[in-house]
Amino acid sequence: MHSIPVGVLGASGYAGRELCGLITAHPHCHLAFATANERRGQTLRVRGGDRVHDILMVGHEEAPLDAAALVFSALPHGASVDWVGRVLAAGAKVVDLSSDLRPGRGGSTHPVPDNVPEQVPYGLPELFREGIGHASVVANPGCYPTSILVALAPFVKAGLVAPDGLVSVAAASGVSGAGASPKPELLFAEVTENFRAYGAGNAHRHLPEMTASLQRLGGTFDLLFTPHLLPVDRGILSTITVPLTEAVADPVGVLRAAYAHEPFVEVTDALPALADVVHRNVVRVTAVTVRHVRRPTLTLFAAIDNLVKGAAGQAVQNANLMLGLDETAGLPR
Ligand SMILES: NC(=O)c1ccc[n+]([C@@H]2O[C@H](COP(=O)([O-])OP(=O)(O)OC[C@H]3O[C@@H](n4cnc5c(N)ncnc54)[C@H](OP(=O)(O)O)[C@@H]3O)[C@@H](O)[C@H]2O)c1
Repeated sequence: MHSIPVGVLGASGYAGRELCGLITAHPHCHLAFATANERRGQTLRVRGGDRVHDILMVGHEEAPLDAAALVFSALPHGASVDWVGRVLAAGAKVVDLSSDLRPGRGGSTHPVPDNVPEQVPYGLPELFREGIGHASVVANPGCYPTSILVALAPFVKAGLVAPDGLVSVAAASGVSGAGASPKPELLFAEVTENFRAYGAGNAHRHLPEMTASLQRLGGTFDLLFTPHLLPVDRGILSTITVPLTEAVADPVGVLRAAYAHEPFVEVTDALPALADVVHRNVVRVTAVTVRHVRRPTLTLFAAIDNLVKGAAGQAVQNANLMLGLDETAGLPR
């Protein structure tokens, strides 16, 4: 099979770097270009498989978009959607890692270019695989939503979540989730040996894509999402409290049945931890029956690497489907 050229917009960011590493180790793709904004002209060192690669990052404007069959846009929300339009105009497919084209658009009001469809497939293959393979643009899900939706979906689809209930999520992410741009609150001295919530009161940009996706699966309950900042480099652990319509005798069995044929979902009896998932394109998930409460309730636990299954790995999974390749090609498990 000939090697397929792909490009990365935003290669100097955390998600873009991870993408470059995955592409340099991919069995059927190679890097046609990698771009940066302020760091254009600099060299990016990435590890791809067993080797280290030095990649020259060009400015976005200098990228030969028409030399790629598919382009990943790992640009900030707001800036990304215009580049999706430019890539489509150049004749390539796009996986957009930003929230610009996800359901609810992350609350963005930035105009969508005329040549970009208003609604594009939401690239969470384990739940919505249909449509991804034939798409010219796919919206890659957010990191928190990937962990939360994979854990909740089997119970929502089975009608087991109380329709008038409140599903409450407390999730913690490593610092790379906030991107590589310098921010005072992310300085080492602010983050280390510390733990705090942010986006309290259902104010996080990821809420619209989660509520839209849960409604699509048949859910009518309320969702309360409270993210936390964890003083580690990478990884997300989501803890999800779910009021049920009835007691479920074997909740782990519900997850196992739903994901028996999914290569990137690990259902486990043990509680998942970040060390189980970092640098891997997996969601590791379990369910526990809650005791000593009046209403039947579950707690779901899901762990992912925010930069792999939560970003670059999932983007490559979508790209594999869009390019007609084996969905698992080039992805670490
Ligand atoms: N980090 C995660 O865990 C994660 C997970 C899921 C999805 N995402 C999404 O992936 C995208 C990239 O995230 P990230 O965390 O990698 O961000 P990041 O580290 O801040 O990187 C952003 C990239 O975009 C470039 N850039 C910054 N401002 C720009 C502008 N105004 N116009 C054009 N380019 C600009 C940067 O270039 P310079 O550095 O050269 O300026 C860099 O290459 C975002 O949309 C984010 O929401 C991130």
